[in-house]
Amino acid sequence: MTDDVAIRVEAVSKKFDLHSDRRTNIKERFVRGRPKGSDEFWALKDVSFEVPRGSTYGLIGHNGSGKSTMLKLLASIHRPTSGAVMAAGRVSSMIELGAGFHPELSGRENVFLNGSILGMTRKQIDASLEEIIEFSGIPLQFIDAPVKVYSSGMYVRLGFAIAVNLDPEILLIDEIVAVGDEDFQRKCFDHLYKLRRKGVTICFVSHSLPLVQTLCDHALWLDHGQMRAEGKALTVVDEYLRAVNKTESDRLGHAEEIDDSHSRRGSREITISKLEFLDATGTPSPVGTTGEPLTVRMHYEVHQPVTEPVFGLAFHHESGTHVAGPNSREGSVMTGTPRGAGHVDFRMDRLLLQPGAFVVTAAVVDTTMAHVYDYRDQAFALHVQPGHGAAGAGVVDLPGTWTMKTVDQLDQGEAS
Ligand SMILES: Nc1ncnc2c1ncn2[C@@H]1O[C@H](COP(=O)(O)OP(=O)(O)O)[C@@H](O)[C@H]1O
Ligand SMILES: [Mg+2]
Repeated sequence: MTDDVAIRVEAVSKKFDLHSDRRTNIKERFVRGRPKGSDEFWALKDVSFEVPRGSTYGLIGHNGSGKSTMLKLLASIHRPTSGAVMAAGRVSSMIELGAGFHPELSGRENVFLNGSILGMTRKQIDASLEEIIEFSGIPLQFIDAPVKVYSSGMYVRLGFAIAVNLDPEILLIDEIVAVGDEDFQRKCFDHLYKLRRKGVTICFVSHSLPLVQTLCDHALWLDHGQMRAEGKALTVVDEYLRAVNKTESDRLGHAEEIDDSHSRRGSREITISKLEFLDATGTPSPVGTTGEPLTVRMHYEVHQPVTEPVFGLAFHHESGTHVAGPNSREGSVMTGTPRGAGHVDFRMDRLLLQPGAFVVTAAVVDTTMAHVYDYRDQAFALHVQPGHGAAGAGVVDLPGTWTMKTVDQLDQGEAS
């Protein structure tokens, strides 16, 4: 392997034999018999990729797609059934909760155990010990207690502290880190950035697509053990999102209607028959994407002529928060005296709602906004998924810009 490649996976397949753990119950075996074919299961099929030294690689895909199995092959916990896996360098991993820990040994002793497994000398481990204990945040009264009394959070913190501080050349991390609390997660990610700057090769599994897009250079999308896409992280995540989005739309069709027959009110001269959410390409989809265009299309039917009706929408977050309530009068649209049927569009160039579940109210009222023709209270579901860039917290994405000035620049500004 050349020096600039840290990990090479060549046409790897992994088969598990299921019969040993599937039916332990003899009666069940007897009654149901052995299934036709065999109890073989291919967790990975013909997977190939390379991770350049010093780069960060992400593994994404649905549950059961083989991501953890792939990491276990890289960590030599499993052997491939066929193909070859090569990892050139000292591999440190954080794959299974508590794996690599001896339950009867104390936290401190486990640090030494793990260090020696990684091929480090006692002196080298000694040098990192304080840092590891501090990073883990494990209370001192616990650090000399056997790890079998640790909480799962403490296991994760100690495991991660060891994995990242014992000077790895290749670091493998499963989504297990997600078990820790938010503060600890932040600390982990800060540390990952630091290791990446130091030139450590990192390969990790995450369900956080924004994280994969920001942290990883390259990524692999696994689907039922097979490669669906491999290459630049931005592109692979995009393809993945598009596929997930499409499945959702196929499943749900147009905007999901919530039964509002009891709450629906109004005099019904004009009614709202349907609501659609149109994506950037104009395709109806119940899923919107933060930062991308979204058009809300209100289909109306006129039963008796009305003049200058006002069309309105309300967006509620699943937590109950009323987020926004735009209407066509604010938008200065003259609606005239509509006849028959048609639609009114509310177009957003950039959807500012953050990922989450929202419910939309659609209403049509008279010019004074005092009389209700049709009011469909929280009758349509809108799912918002993360788009490009980091997913922020909260309900909306505030479209601001940041700037910064140093004290020197401020002084210059005053002088001139
Ligand atoms: N030791 C094992 N024995 C049998 N089947 C396994 C074993 N480990 C994983 N599998 C199966 O392989 C598939 C892939 O699992 P995994 O790699 O854990 O997926 P992911 O991490 O993407 O959720 C799953 O269907 C899982 O049930
Ligand atoms: Mg997994």
